[in-house]
Amino acid sequence: MTQTKYRTDTCGDLRMVDEGRDVVLAGWVQRVRKMGGMTFVDLRDRYGITQLVFSEDSDSSLCAEANKLGREYVVQAEGKVMKRSNPNKHIPTGEIEIDVKKLTVLNESEVPPFTIEDETDGGDDLRMKYRYLDLRRTVVRKNLELRHKMTMEVRRYLDNLGFLEVETPMLIGSTPEGARDFVVPSRMNPGQFYALPQSPQTLKQLLMVSGFDRYFQIVKCFRDEDLRADRQPEFTQIDCEMSYVGQEDILAIFEGMAKHLFKEIRGIEISGPFPRMTWADAMKYYGSDKPDTRFGMRFVELDGILKGHGFEIFDSADLIAGICAKGAGAYTRKQIDQLTEFVKRPQIGAKGLVWARVEAGGNVKSSIDKYYTQEILQQVKSAFGAEDGDLILILSGDDAGRTRRQMCELRLEMGNRLGLRDKNKFSCLWVVDFPMFEWSEEEGRFMAMHHPFTHPKDEDIPMLDTNPAAVRADAYDMVINGVEVGGGSIRIHEAGLQAKMFKILGFTEKRAQEQFGFLMNAFKYGAPPHGGLAYGLDRWVSLFAGLDSIRDCIAFPKNNSGRDVMLDAPAALDQSQLDELKLSVSE
Ligand code: AMO
Repeated sequence: MTQTKYRTDTCGDLRMVDEGRDVVLAGWVQRVRKMGGMTFVDLRDRYGITQLVFSEDSDSSLCAEANKLGREYVVQAEGKVMKRSNPNKHIPTGEIEIDVKKLTVLNESEVPPFTIEDETDGGDDLRMKYRYLDLRRTVVRKNLELRHKMTMEVRRYLDNLGFLEVETPMLIGSTPEGARDFVVPSRMNPGQFYALPQSPQTLKQLLMVSGFDRYFQIVKCFRDEDLRADRQPEFTQIDCEMSYVGQEDILAIFEGMAKHLFKEIRGIEISGPFPRMTWADAMKYYGSDKPDTRFGMRFVELDGILKGHGFEIFDSADLIAGICAKGAGAYTRKQIDQLTEFVKRPQIGAKGLVWARVEAGGNVKSSIDKYYTQEILQQVKSAFGAEDGDLILILSGDDAGRTRRQMCELRLEMGNRLGLRDKNKFSCLWVVDFPMFEWSEEEGRFMAMHHPFTHPKDEDIPMLDTNPAAVRADAYDMVINGVEVGGGSIRIHEAGLQAKMFKILGFTEKRAQEQFGFLMNAFKYGAPPHGGLAYGLDRWVSLFAGLDSIRDCIAFPKNNSGRDVMLDAPAALDQSQLDELKLSVSE
């Protein structure tokens, strides 16, 4: 069904079986090459590139027309499919070319600001400003095609399991728990504001009260937070909720979805259940709640071996921990200095790095030789199970949490240096048993680690009154290659427990009622037990496409300052608009 008013075939369709056919193609001029009396034009559309040929000998005026074509002109070419004397093995249409009989310029183009080819000369900002041109490049277009394929597979998988796609509103009320909201003023209600949803969390819970039982939505979410490679201010969730389920039901269905996507999109069969790791172990062994498990190098704590021998830095430390980099024992002084500089960078903030290498024959040579006997260094070696040729790297500090975060950065850096973070290798993991709360120094109160609607583990509920910091939640994240691709929880469905949770989070009854009264009221009318999860679609697509940033799989993304440089947004409003909204802007 490619035939339309302007073309019989696309620029990706034609092969040797079409030899001799009269065809009409339409597309963009990628390149014009003149060779002797011949002119070759690469014609491009979404489907591929086809070579057009013009010969001075057979039609000199047509050939002259072709020579006048500029890059990105939109043209229509009528002609015959011919076997190419010089086939191009790199493209699927490379065996044929079109001997053009008629050429129509449908639209001219100014010279584009960068070359529209896989290897472009356009910098980031320029490409974002002209994103519609950037999207013509095959490498970028392929990411959007992959995204489309993934959303189709997601819908297919969930539809087969009886999930209903329900849309929830984009203009809702502000819920300051979590990230900051983007707000929208209301002309009809002067001085009042909607907020754009950070996620449809409370609305999907209300749908459970309504009896929808299995809900999903591929939905835009908005968060005003600092941006990183895996964060955009507006992003897309595959948001799901189910009633009458426990944690195992949810993990099974969404692990199933992950396996379905791996198979259909990447052709990878994953057998057996995904490994699970408690949050406590993830922090202890990897210093992160989203460990990259493509490689080992788990932390080993060394306080028991290295404390109390007169090395002041270790003696006074809250934690001494290390990793063993297999086969890195031959690291030069310079390479170790680079690693030391790496951990001392302000973003990481370690004071220094201790190293120990296992030499041929088993002797341990280290940067702290003068403080420790060989016997103690051998104990360190055994603690890691280190062998000849391995390099042990050790950090310490006066705050165990901070030291673990620093170790995490060092571990990932070593993973990169040793080529252990292959983008075509995937390691999936459930992180489970998250703590219910985390203490916020800034706010001087407990904050919900996932969100305030998360159910505490039944066996930990008694500790809500006595030791909230120790309460664990029925909350889980899916982590692939160190990226949090999704997360969810079993929810509280009892109004009493929800009220108690708000109290622990420092809400007065009045404020809880003002902000979440609608939910607590709903819970009075027969709320079923329920739970769910949301996958980050942008992160899934980038993972499957091997991208470094989720920006590259979003058609019109924001830059790192949250700006759309193409639309020049955000921007100031006209005074008349401000007046209508009864808003004034202070300097
Ligand atoms: P959470 O906040 O963990 O949970 O978000 C779910 C998933 O969304 C993705 N994600 C993002 N992707 C791109 N840019 C961002 N700024 C961004 N923030 C989050 C991540 C994350 O795992 N309502 C709950 C889900 C639930 O409990 O059902 C929620 O929003 O992949």
